[in-house]
Amino acid sequence: MSRRKLIAGNWKMNGSLAANQALVQDLLAGIGQPACDVAVCPPGAYLGQVQALLAGSQAIALGAQNVSQHENGAFTGDISATMLQDFGVRYVIVGHSERRQHQAETDVHVAIKVKRALSAGITPIVCVGETLREHDEGMTEFIVRRQLSAVIHLNGDDVGRIVVAYEPVWAIGTGKTATPAQAQAVHAVLRAQLKAATSQADDMRILYGGSMNAGNAAELLAQPDIDGGLIGGAALKAADFLKIVAAAR
Ligand code: PGA
Repeated sequence: MSRRKLIAGNWKMNGSLAANQALVQDLLAGIGQPACDVAVCPPGAYLGQVQALLAGSQAIALGAQNVSQHENGAFTGDISATMLQDFGVRYVIVGHSERRQHQAETDVHVAIKVKRALSAGITPIVCVGETLREHDEGMTEFIVRRQLSAVIHLNGDDVGRIVVAYEPVWAIGTGKTATPAQAQAVHAVLRAQLKAATSQADDMRILYGGSMNAGNAAELLAQPDIDGGLIGGAALKAADFLKIVAAAR
């Protein structure tokens, strides 16, 4: 079992031409030859800019934050998987809780988006996670299994090509992190669910996300089933993001 860890920065709706340029330049200057895979996911409007800034870098891949569930056509405002592919996008975040919550994305939308990404050769980073209320009611396992099950159901054996990200909603942007033991327990549940679906489960990466930062990354990443991180706030500061990358080995 040799899973190379993945650290992906989710910039969310932050940045500007000037800020992105400074951030990517600082990342490239400091990254060296990382022991893990690294990706940055800027807002869609900046994919072309960040692709150009990253050109030639073996160390940092380009990711996107969303993909349309439709292939092409009259879907105003959507961006298709083949368009992402045109910009050299290697990863796409799918089903982030902010999209499930604010854009009414359902488990079925998420499953279709995964299919679109995979057919364009892009690795989807599929987010699952429970809200604070669900957490308090002891429903964590039920919720994450339901969310992942929709993706497995529609994608069958291809599910072996996805990355999963466990992001407890109550830990996102709040400074509250799941303890390493709490996160590991959920990751183990997800791994078992993947094992029942694909023979590749042991090679699949399950990331943790939710207030992961330079201070707590090493402990989280030391857990046997935590194979990387999906980083929000701490991905906007080059020094912090690079510390998390250095902790992933
Ligand atoms: P956070 O965000 O690191 O700011 O908590 C993580 C995410 O939402 O992907």
